[in-house]
Amino acid sequence: MGSRGNGSESDVMIAIRGLRIGFDELKVLRGIDLEVRRGETLCVLGGSGCGKSVMLKCIAGLYTPDAGEIRIEGENIVGMSERDLVDVRKKIGFVFQNSALFDSLTVFENVAYPVREHRKIADEALARIVAERLALVGLEGTEEKYPAELSGGMRKRVAFARAVASDPAIVLYDEPTTGLDPQNARRIDLLIRELQAMLGVTGIVVTHDISSAFAVADHLALMVEGRIGVHGTPDEFRSSAEPTVREFLSARPVPPAEPAQSGGAT
Ligand SMILES: Nc1ncnc2c1ncn2[C@@H]1O[C@H](COP(=O)(O)OP(=O)(O)O)[C@@H](O)[C@H]1O
Ligand SMILES: [Mg+2]
Repeated sequence: MGSRGNGSESDVMIAIRGLRIGFDELKVLRGIDLEVRRGETLCVLGGSGCGKSVMLKCIAGLYTPDAGEIRIEGENIVGMSERDLVDVRKKIGFVFQNSALFDSLTVFENVAYPVREHRKIADEALARIVAERLALVGLEGTEEKYPAELSGGMRKRVAFARAVASDPAIVLYDEPTTGLDPQNARRIDLLIRELQAMLGVTGIVVTHDISSAFAVADHLALMVEGRIGVHGTPDEFRSSAEPTVREFLSARPVPPAEPAQSGGAT
């Protein structure tokens, strides 16, 4: 086929090369190389404080790297002007670690926020989008509630609805299950898979919750000393002999492989 049919390149949604960033003396990311394929969910694992959130913020254009490149659909965002970054950020939904809802705004206003920020839209159309997104996360009819009236799991789901409100191609999830009880954590895992299936989003999930990682990931990446040490499928991780992987997993129970249910990947 034509030159666009050059398979692997167009399948790559995010390509990171030699990404470095530090804060004063502290070198946090020391040369991250990582590819995320279009439509997949990649889980980034790593010990607390190793730089996972910093990496997500670099991808979202919120932190400026010291070196390296981050290509989003082929376009390098490192060194881009603030004006051009505004357009890049429209492609990205971000679920922050603590949900980070606006406490003084209703659920409706929270979910509507990124839509209004990105384009002019009539009230009716906006109300429809917000209702749709809330239905998607199982919170229909909660528009007039305030975050304080919701449980932690519900707040997290509002944060998901907000992250996908303006149809981003990419969703970045920072520790989406942290602080939730196991039942709500598993619901969030399901929701990540549903958003991937229904909206076709490319996802990066940063987590130290191993059961969550194995439940949602198409690929896993382990961050060690500011680099991606190992990258592979959940099965490759389970059977990996890499000392860093064994060490990381040994401290945490690894869930067994699930029997194929949906006829999907693997
Ligand atoms: N804005 C910042 N200024 C200074 N240090 C930071 C900043 N953001 C993160 N760090 C430091 O970078 C390191 C990695 O942080 P982070 O990415 O949040 O870790 P985690 O892997 O737990 O998400 C930590 O030592 C943290 O203190
Ligand atoms: Mg973090």
